[in-house]
Amino acid sequence: MYWQALSAALALATLLHLVSALAPQSYSWQNVKIGGGGGFVPDIVFNPSEQGLVYARTDIGGAYIMNADESWTPLLDFADNDHWNYWGVDALATDPVDTNRLYLATGMYTNSWDPNDGQILISTNKGQNFTVSPLPFKVGGNMPGRGIGERLAIDPNSNNILFFGARSGNGLWKSTDFAQTWSQVESFTATGNYAPDPTDTSGYNSDLIGLAWVTFDPTSGTSGSPTPRIFVGVVSNGTQENVFVSEDAGSTWSAVPGQNNTYFPHKGVLSAAEKTLYISYSDGAGPYDGTSGAVMKFNISTGVWTDITPVSGSDLYFGFGGLTLDPQRPGTMMVAALNSWWPNGQIFRTTDGGQTWTGIWEWLSYPAINYYYTYDDTLAPWLGENATTTAFTTQVGWMMEGLNIDPFDSNHWLYGTGETIYGGHDLLKWDLGASRNVTIESLADGVEEESVQALISPPTGPSLISAVGDDGGFVHYDLNTPPATMFTNPTWSTTVDLDYAGNDPTNIVRIGNGDSSDGLQAALSTDSGNTWSEDYGAAENFSGGKIALSANGDTVLWATSGNGVQVSQYTNAFTAVSSLPSSTTAIASDKRNDSIFYAAAGSDFYVSVDGGKTFSIEGSLAESTSPVKIIVHPNVTGDVWVSTDQGLFHSTNTGSTFTAISGVTEAWAIALGAPATAGGYPTVFAAANIGGVGYFRSDDAGVNWVQINDAAHGFGSVSSNVITGDLRVYGRVYIGTNGRGIFYGDIAGAAPPPSSTAPIASSTSNPISSPTSTVPVSSPSSSSHSSSASSSAPSATPTSVAGEWGQCGGIGWTGPTACAG
Ligand SMILES: *[C@@H]1O[C@H](CO)[C@@H](O)[C@H](O)[C@H]1NC(C)=O
Ligand SMILES: *[C@@H]1O[C@H](CO)[C@@H](O)[C@H](O)[C@H]1NC(C)=O
Ligand SMILES: *[C@@H]1O[C@H](CO)[C@@H](O)[C@H](O)[C@H]1NC(C)=O
Ligand SMILES: *[C@@H]1O[C@H](CO)[C@@H](O)[C@H](O)[C@H]1NC(C)=O
Ligand SMILES: *[C@@H]1O[C@H](CO)[C@@H](O)[C@H](O)[C@H]1NC(C)=O
Ligand SMILES: *[C@@H]1O[C@H](CO)[C@@H](O)[C@H](O)[C@H]1NC(C)=O
Ligand SMILES: *[C@@H]1O[C@H](CO)[C@@H](O)[C@H](O)[C@H]1NC(C)=O
Ligand SMILES: *[C@@H]1O[C@H](CO)[C@@H](O)[C@H](O)[C@H]1NC(C)=O
Ligand SMILES: *[C@@H]1O[C@H](CO)[C@@H](O)[C@H](O)[C@H]1NC(C)=O
Repeated sequence: MYWQALSAALALATLLHLVSALAPQSYSWQNVKIGGGGGFVPDIVFNPSEQGLVYARTDIGGAYIMNADESWTPLLDFADNDHWNYWGVDALATDPVDTNRLYLATGMYTNSWDPNDGQILISTNKGQNFTVSPLPFKVGGNMPGRGIGERLAIDPNSNNILFFGARSGNGLWKSTDFAQTWSQVESFTATGNYAPDPTDTSGYNSDLIGLAWVTFDPTSGTSGSPTPRIFVGVVSNGTQENVFVSEDAGSTWSAVPGQNNTYFPHKGVLSAAEKTLYISYSDGAGPYDGTSGAVMKFNISTGVWTDITPVSGSDLYFGFGGLTLDPQRPGTMMVAALNSWWPNGQIFRTTDGGQTWTGIWEWLSYPAINYYYTYDDTLAPWLGENATTTAFTTQVGWMMEGLNIDPFDSNHWLYGTGETIYGGHDLLKWDLGASRNVTIESLADGVEEESVQALISPPTGPSLISAVGDDGGFVHYDLNTPPATMFTNPTWSTTVDLDYAGNDPTNIVRIGNGDSSDGLQAALSTDSGNTWSEDYGAAENFSGGKIALSANGDTVLWATSGNGVQVSQYTNAFTAVSSLPSSTTAIASDKRNDSIFYAAAGSDFYVSVDGGKTFSIEGSLAESTSPVKIIVHPNVTGDVWVSTDQGLFHSTNTGSTFTAISGVTEAWAIALGAPATAGGYPTVFAAANIGGVGYFRSDDAGVNWVQINDAAHGFGSVSSNVITGDLRVYGRVYIGTNGRGIFYGDIAGAAPPPSSTAPIASSTSNPISSPTSTVPVSSPSSSSHSSSASSSAPSATPTSVAGEWGQCGGIGWTGPTACAG
């Protein structure tokens, strides 16, 4: 207690002391354009009353609004380290009456990975800014079942009323004051009985998915009075019914008679013209799974259920996710196979209320397939064929929960997948019989959802190379143009780290984390990442961790995730570095001397002068217990910086002695960049706590700092983020986030960014006012949210799952039936 109080007092003193040094410097921030989304988009929601008002929600990267030119603008970029769970959006509701109103149910995890309860974010101006309504329970934007829904719904006859279906056994909640206050609907007793894996001790797969969706029947009421008839879907099966109805505006509830609760209801969509409720079902909660399912319709007038599942027998090897109606054409609707991993994702369409269906592809005679679509990935060419492993053929998409026809334009549709947003503008061509051919376009321009694992900005060649989750990584030849391809040959779903050789910077090394069967998990490039070859010195079981490439590019030092630290010269077999402990958390190469490497573990700083073969402790990082990153001056041997849980440390004598940088109480990602004046010391960039958690730059080797992020750019969880400085452009820094892609920042008013396209508009209006605490708020101490970095591959996945993009179901398939992203 004593130490805690003292350190708070010291922090306050530090804050006051630093005020003059901490004047923020205005930066202009833009996304490095990747252009194709890059992660799971659980749903896209069209406002039913205002044409062109469309939102998308993501599981780890916040929500977006669609612009008139069909690009997307992010709405939650203000979320900082204290509000990182805002980026998990589990439900979204756009008001059909006052179309300016938008509500987001946010929170990342319902287990311990997210210590915070969830909240409803309320906007009265289409997401330009929000007020917060805290909830007394957690919300799981990146939990299983996150594509189900929408769980949050606005009464179309009385838009002050909202219902929210909670997870974790928390039941149904209601607000009558535009979401400002909430109370539980005690008369609704179903809470859901399904958790994907009740034995999961992490709590991730063992939590109840809970309520699935809330759907009003507007035809049952009149404008100005609460809608009497409300349907609620629940993630239950077997012994518990899962579709409920109220006829008295939510006072009393009963199970809808005659229902079939074999599978879980993912979507419940009401056709007012037909007075019919359409429901898609899957035998899993999603988003990766599903080996069977159904599509049903419930005729409200007669109480008759009809099974309208598009396929049966051996053709039914998937569940159903996305379901959409064309309100201008009663009887026209589409459903998506939640996951058809082979031979392709599948979408079905009917124009007669489900009596007959056609698929977007159909078997001709095995193995020939008729593809009734043209694929257009102009806006993100890396999504296409060359970007994929041979095993990966699901071009139409996977994890398809959000499938939507524009209520104002029967030709316009959008759907979310595990990787991007697709859609098109010629949907009615689907109804042309055997000659049908619709164009599927990549339409995620502006959605930047990559989970960024590492960034480098070498002194020559392309200014930026990225390592990302799920999509491998990219060479960014132009910061404003989507890459043509992800890293290929070898192609991994996730790259975790990168380094370049200081004396020969076109030499690059990358490592993967072993979630793909495609090749050894280390690869080398001699042409700045354009082409690669496997590092044949690697053992097949080496993966993950951190990588460093020696100054001349001949030696690779690898802190693997399960086999300790290993070293290899000239791609000879890696050998264990026994002088480094398995607790080593950071490694780096000297950028000038080929023989010198650095490492850190706990408070010990290690140096090798023999090409990484042996290390010895050279210096001490004070009371540090967890070094995060070592960076090295690009021109000067032995000039190193180390960020740790106890601050930022600098040595100019190869680690023999360190200076603790004054005022920095904790530091995460750090980087060096081009000096302010020719010949000067490089700029230092740090994600750090300097009187508060933020992003800072120092032009004088850590004496004075300016804060470079602002209220509109919080960058989410600080411990998840990576940074690199541009060694050629003074002031330019790149920040890689967990779910909002890569940003690059330039000093405002500096030379214009090398842009040929318009920057992504960022909100300049007031974001949520963060709590005004004078004592710096400590960041979440748990690092678990950074380890579960990838939207499509949470850290806790069942052990019986297929590899990412691997087959996990299908005719005659005897392999794993649980799918991974
Ligand atoms: C949102 O922005 C508007 C317009 O700038 C402003 O009037 C309003 O006070 C802001 N609301 C919040 C919650 O910050
Ligand atoms: C409920 O669904 C799960 C997942 O598909 C399945 O394993 C279980 O057998 C089902 N329970 C019943 C009672 O049908
Ligand atoms: C319920 O649905 C399952 C799966 O579609 C089907 O096998 C079963 O026959 C249905 N039960 C009834 C009573 O219709
Ligand atoms: C619902 O049932 C009624 C009575 O049989 C019928 O007239 C109506 O067409 C049905 N609605 C749909 C959408 O099938
Ligand atoms: C639809 O168009 C694409 C490309 O334009 C073509 O590959 C495909 O075969 C066409 N489908 C049919 C059924 O003609
Ligand atoms: C895909 O690969 C082929 C063959 O190498 C090449 O001709 C084509 O340009 C590549 N496409 C893209 C988008 O890189
Ligand atoms: C990984 O492979 C190496 C070389 O084949 C072997 O020596 C080592 O025991 C393996 N490690 C693990 C953890 O299986
Ligand atoms: C690199 O460092 C080692 C160890 O300090 C030293 O012996 C060697 O001379 C240095 N090499 C160069 C080229 O400076
Ligand atoms: C490294 O040295 C070169 C050549 O003198 C200089 O142009 C460059 O700015 C230096 N880099 C940094 C980061 O100081």
